[in-house]
Amino acid sequence: KRELAAMLVHDLKTPMTVIRSGITLLSDFATSSGKREHNRTFELLEMSTARLQRMVEDVLQLAKLEEMMGQPYADLVEMSALARACAKDFELIVADRKQTLELAVADEELPPVFGDRPLLRRVLDNLVHNAVEHTPSGGRIVIGVRMEGGAVLTEVSDSGPGVPPEAREHIFLKFFQKDLKRHVGNVGLGLALCEKVVSRHGGAIGIGDGVAKGARFYFTLPVAPSLEGV
Ligand SMILES: Nc1ncnc2c1ncn2[C@@H]1O[C@H](COP(=O)(O)OP(=O)(O)OP(=O)(O)O)[C@@H](O)[C@H]1O
Ligand SMILES: [Mg+2]
Repeated sequence: KRELAAMLVHDLKTPMTVIRSGITLLSDFATSSGKREHNRTFELLEMSTARLQRMVEDVLQLAKLEEMMGQPYADLVEMSALARACAKDFELIVADRKQTLELAVADEELPPVFGDRPLLRRVLDNLVHNAVEHTPSGGRIVIGVRMEGGAVLTEVSDSGPGVPPEAREHIFLKFFQKDLKRHVGNVGLGLALCEKVVSRHGGAIGIGDGVAKGARFYFTLPVAPSLEGV
């Protein structure tokens, strides 16, 4: 049954790509022929299809991970480099919302982890994305990477409202949303995906208290086995 769902979702990807390119094409055409009154409509269409595409990809990715169909992990990943790249990509979004995004990466070089770089990046992006969505204007978000208990720990903390203790045990479940009305269009897959990816990498994900009562999400990953002497 689950396989059927994955297949269906996969088949949704092609028409969606066609729709997105069509919208871009039409929007370029409208702009060049001076029909600027439709700009807002195109903007909305573009945002909605982008969101739809992200949702479909999350469902597909999650289904793949549940079926253990993913590629075997092939990369040595430096989590601090991943954090820097992520912070850079969020620069504009954060500035737009008048939030600050800080990096707290250990000075000494941290050992790499062994894993799937795009998937690990996705985990970080989802956590930062949630932090951005929940932190008010003027708020603060911190991405940290350091060693803890022999593992590489990555964390994203924010100065938003935080997650109440009673919601913490459910938060990594699929489709769980603390407050359904607040962020229309979100589906509650982000953290479920994070949990799957981290556990498939032999790590653990958790939640604690963030800066000034905010949320703090962290995950640990085992250090890559040393290749010395091979
Ligand atoms: N940084 C945070 N601060 C406060 N609440 C949070 C934070 N991150 C997540 N949550 C809560 O956890 C719920 C689940 O998060 P999750 O990322 O899984 O789903 P979503 O963000 O609602 O939807 P999606 O990520 O699929 O678009 C959110 O709806 C929100 O209530
Ligand atoms: Mg989310």
